[in-house]
Amino acid sequence: MSSERSLAGGFPGARPRRLRTTPAMRRMVAEHRVHPADLILPVFVRDGISEPVPVSSMPGVVQHTRESLKETAAEAVRAGLGGIMIFGVPKDEDKDAVGSCGTDPEGILQVALRDVRSEVGDDIVVMSDLCLDETTDHGHCGVLDADGRVDNDATLERYAEMARVQAEAGAHVLGASGMMDGQVAHARRALDAAGHEDVSVFGYTAKYASAFYGPFREAVGSSLQGDRRTYQQDPANSRESLRELSLDLAEGADMVMVKPGLPYLDVLRDFAERVDVPLGVYHISGEYAMVEAAARNGWIDRDAAMMETLTSFKRAGADLILTYWALEAGRKL
Ligand code: PBG
Repeated sequence: MSSERSLAGGFPGARPRRLRTTPAMRRMVAEHRVHPADLILPVFVRDGISEPVPVSSMPGVVQHTRESLKETAAEAVRAGLGGIMIFGVPKDEDKDAVGSCGTDPEGILQVALRDVRSEVGDDIVVMSDLCLDETTDHGHCGVLDADGRVDNDATLERYAEMARVQAEAGAHVLGASGMMDGQVAHARRALDAAGHEDVSVFGYTAKYASAFYGPFREAVGSSLQGDRRTYQQDPANSRESLRELSLDLAEGADMVMVKPGLPYLDVLRDFAERVDVPLGVYHISGEYAMVEAAARNGWIDRDAAMMETLTSFKRAGADLILTYWALEAGRKL
């Protein structure tokens, strides 16, 4: 190989390792960075408890009391996080077939929204889960018809009312996570009709029927029997996500999301190439639990795995990352 030729392109003129020589060099040439404002912390608040309850399958995550949730929201502000996503965990005896506590202004999620807004004001984006699964006794994300199937259009009526009630309680953003057809449009219409034009809808646009939701179901005390495969997407499909994306955007989604994260980075990249709205990804409970469990066994460097995971989302094209590591990662960054 002549030296002219190698300098024109190949080795030994080209040595990519030069840009990896020192931490300062690597930092300077990093193509993607995670910023605290990119991070959204999902939190659980449980009705009727006086101390936070650890979620055993998610080490480091708790079901909050109203008081500990307020403190955590204030910490999220101090860490400079972008947002906080609140999930309400009602008492078992308050669950029913239609998820009544999801539309009761005194339901735990609505109470918590008011608490958190009074604590943090507009200093962080306050989001709420617009879904029925935490509040129904059967654990499905919607109401059931006479044959026990999830009734799409009847569910939309429930979501519309929930949207209004959550906005009234102070949510800045509603996370439309139920995977019903038309959920974004219905939420949007209900919000506008009630004068909440400024409240945003975050579409859980591509949400897959994933085995990795396991620990979340413990976190919200889910009573689900069976599965969600008639409404959440089949992991075998990716083109279908593009269809969901067109629909959510047409229905007025202000932001869109891919969920779970790591097993669906290809879908995230597909979205990144197409959207002109903020794009989120949800690093879900099971993904979190895997790293935590391996770290507890001494099999993996937890902090390095955490930062590598978050960076991979940015690399794939995410703007926003929902992660149970948000507080910890935000403080580090
Ligand atoms: C549905 C909902 C789910 C999650 C958030 N919202 C999952 C489900 O059971 O389908 C999962 C989040 C996680 O696993 O971390 N309201």
